[in-house]
Parts: sequence; structure tokens; C-alpha cells
Amino acid sequence: MSWHQERKEAICLTVHNIRMIENENGVTKPALTEILGQLQGLATQVEWFSEDEFPAPDLDVAESSHVYRISEDPNDHRFALYVQSARAPTSTPPHNHDTWAVIAGINGNELNRFYRATEEGVEVVGSHVVQAGTGVTLLPDDLHSIHITDEGCVINFHMYGLGLEYLTERQYYDRISGEWKVFARYDNIIDARHILQWPSKLLQLN
Ligand SMILES: [Fe+2]
Repeated sequence: MSWHQERKEAICLTVHNIRMIENENGVTKPALTEILGQLQGLATQVEWFSEDEFPAPDLDVAESSHVYRISEDPNDHRFALYVQSARAPTSTPPHNHDTWAVIAGINGNELNRFYRATEEGVEVVGSHVVQAGTGVTLLPDDLHSIHITDEGCVINFHMYGLGLEYLTERQYYDRISGEWKVFARYDNIIDARHILQWPSKLLQLN
């Protein structure tokens, strides 16, 4: 079996297992911890999710990260699995997700800060550096921010209960205005689901 085929089957099995975990347990912290375990297993195959396959943006463009969609349920857009490939400087404001979110490290360091909402805005309540072998889990209302300062390419899995384009109520805290705002619709996703069709699609093209 080719490694492309192995990767395809491993991604499909991982997403299947994650679907089962959520179906059986609902959206709870223990369920998300199980989901993280599934993604960590897939993340051990570092060579399948390399910078060559999933490059970060060039240094001369404004955006600092690419989000590659590698799996998403076709009808309801649930169980959206992305490879995020980023370079410094990447920094987000504190935000929620309006669905569950799990991040698993593949390569490099991604600092996550966690917050609680206060009357004045937000207060940091913890942090974790996502790197190979670790990750974070977030319930729909949990707040975090992401910060990348590493040189080179930082690659992680980001998985959401619902595809990013359909998260219309995601909020972030704007420190300048001191207000909570709704994220603009995220539609810069690079569709990489063709890797799940390899080699049949290539054979069809030939
Ligand atoms: Fe996030």
C-alpha cells in the first residue's frame, strides 16, 4: 500500500472514530480529550503532514497562516479537520468557537492562552504550548488565543465540530475598542480533500 493510501485510510478512520466518540458521549471535556487522543495518534505520522505538502505562506505576503481542509462531512459540514501551517508572527485575539475545537501538535510550537470573560473584558487563566504529542480542547464557549513566534513552519491539526465557514457567531474580544465582536466569515480555506481521493482521482485525470 502506498503512503498516500495509508494516509487516506488513517484520516478516514480517525474522523470515523471521532464521530463515534461525539455520538456516544456528546460534547463534553472527557469526549474532547478522547478526540484529542485520536488526533494525536494521527499526528505521530509527521511525514504525512510535512511543510512540503502543507506549506505556510511566503514571507512576502501579509497572511501568516494557511488552513488546509483535509476532511469534512459532505452534507452537514460537521467534523471539519484542518491542517494549519503557520509562520511567525501569528497572533489571534481572545475568541470562542461556537462549536467544539481541538488542536493537536505536529511540528513546532503554538502558544495557547486561555481566558475567562470578565466585566472589564478578559482575564488570562492559563496557557499551554501545543507541540508534537500535546494539544488543547475547547468547548464552544471556552476562550483562547493563539501566538506563534517560532522561526520556520508550525504545523498543527485544528478540528472543529462544524466547518469554519459555517461558524457565524464566533466572537472575539477587541482590546482596542473593549468590545466583543463577531468574526468575519472565514473563507480563505485551501481545500485539500483531494488527498482523501488519492489515487482514484489522479487515475481518473489520466
Ligand atoms: Fe481558536
